[in-house]
Amino acid sequence: MNIEKKILLLPGDGIGPEVVDSAKQVLLKIEKEFNLRYKFDTALIGGCAIEEAQNPLPTETLKKALNSDAVLLGAVGGPKWDNLPSDQRPERGLLKIRSELGLFANFRPALLSKSLVSASSMRPEIVSDLDILIIRELTGGLYFGEPRGRSKDQNKAFNTMIYSKEEILRIGRVGFDAAKKRGCKLCSVDKANVLEVSAFWREVMNDLSKEYPEVELTHMLVDNAAMQLVREPKQFDVIVTGNIFGDILSDISAMLTGSIGMLPSASLNQTNKGLFEPVHGSAPDITGLSKANPLATIASAAMMLKYSFNQLEAAIAIDKAIENVLEAGYRTADISDVSSIVLSTEEMTQEVLKHIKK
Ligand code: IPM
Ligand code: MG
Repeated sequence: MNIEKKILLLPGDGIGPEVVDSAKQVLLKIEKEFNLRYKFDTALIGGCAIEEAQNPLPTETLKKALNSDAVLLGAVGGPKWDNLPSDQRPERGLLKIRSELGLFANFRPALLSKSLVSASSMRPEIVSDLDILIIRELTGGLYFGEPRGRSKDQNKAFNTMIYSKEEILRIGRVGFDAAKKRGCKLCSVDKANVLEVSAFWREVMNDLSKEYPEVELTHMLVDNAAMQLVREPKQFDVIVTGNIFGDILSDISAMLTGSIGMLPSASLNQTNKGLFEPVHGSAPDITGLSKANPLATIASAAMMLKYSFNQLEAAIAIDKAIENVLEAGYRTADISDVSSIVLSTEEMTQEVLKHIKK
C-alpha cells in the first residue's frame, strides 16, 4: 500500500468551491483506480476567510497547509471585497500562503490540445500544437519588495522591485532544469534596458548559464516578449521571469490556448511541496451557475500528482482523460463553438471521471 498523502483543499471564493469539488472527485477516482491513498482536509482562504475569521489567511489554514503534503486551491476574491485596502484584500491570503510556504517557483504551462484549436482567438497555424512553459518567480520582486505603501502626506504610493542574487539563481536553476527536460531552450524575460534590477537579473542568468552548456539561453525585454507571444508563440519553449512580468505574460499565454479556464499551475518550494491552482480567477459572473470549466483545476490536481507526489502514471491518466473528453466534443461554455456539446461543471466532471483508467 502506498503512503497516504495529505491534501489540503482551499476552495476559496466564487467558482473556487465548484471547481475544487470537481478535482476532488477526480482524485477520489484516481485513489481507487491506482490503489493510492489521499487524506483530504479543507480550510478557508480569501474572501470567505475574511467573512468568517476577519483574516484572508487564518492561522488555522496556514497551520493545516504547513502540515499537508500539497494544497489544492480554487480561487480568491470577488466584488464584495473589491473596495478593501490592498493589505486586507482576499488576494493577500494567496500571497501570504505562497510566501509562508516558500513557493518561489511557479509553473504555468500553456498547452493547446488539438481539439481546442478553434477555441483560440488566434489563427490555427499560429497556435496549433502550442506547448510552452512559463516559470514565474513567485515570492519576490515587486509583489513583496520593501518599502511599500504610502507617504506620510498620502500624496505618494510606492512599491519596490528587488531581487537578490540568491533568488535569481534559485529560480534560474529551476528554469534551466526544466529546459533541459524539454527543448533545451530557455528565454529569460526582463526589462534590462530600464531597470537596474533587471540588468542584474540578466547578469546573474548569464553567469548561471555556464553551468548549463546544453541549454541555449536567450534574453528578451518584457514588452517585446508580450508582442512575440502573440506574434509567434511557438518560438518559445521555456520562459523564466520575475513575479510581475510572469503574472502578465502568463495571462497572455493562457489566452493563446483559447480559454483561461483550461490552464493549471503549480507553485513549488525547494522540496517540491506545492500549491496547485487554476490560473483563472473566481469568476463572480458565473458563480453558482455550474458553468465554470473545471478542467484547469483538474489539470492542477494532475500537476500535484506529478510534481509533489511523483505519481506519474496517475497524473498521465488525468491528462489523458481530459484530452479524450475534449476529443469527444464535450465543452463547457467558455470553450464551446457551434458544433460542441455544452456541459455544466458537474456534467464535465462526470465525463472526465468516466475516462479515468489505469
Ligand atoms: C495570479 C493572480 C494573483 C497574482 C492575484 C490573485 C494575487 O493574478 O495568480 O496570477 O497576481 O499572482
Ligand atoms: Mg495573474
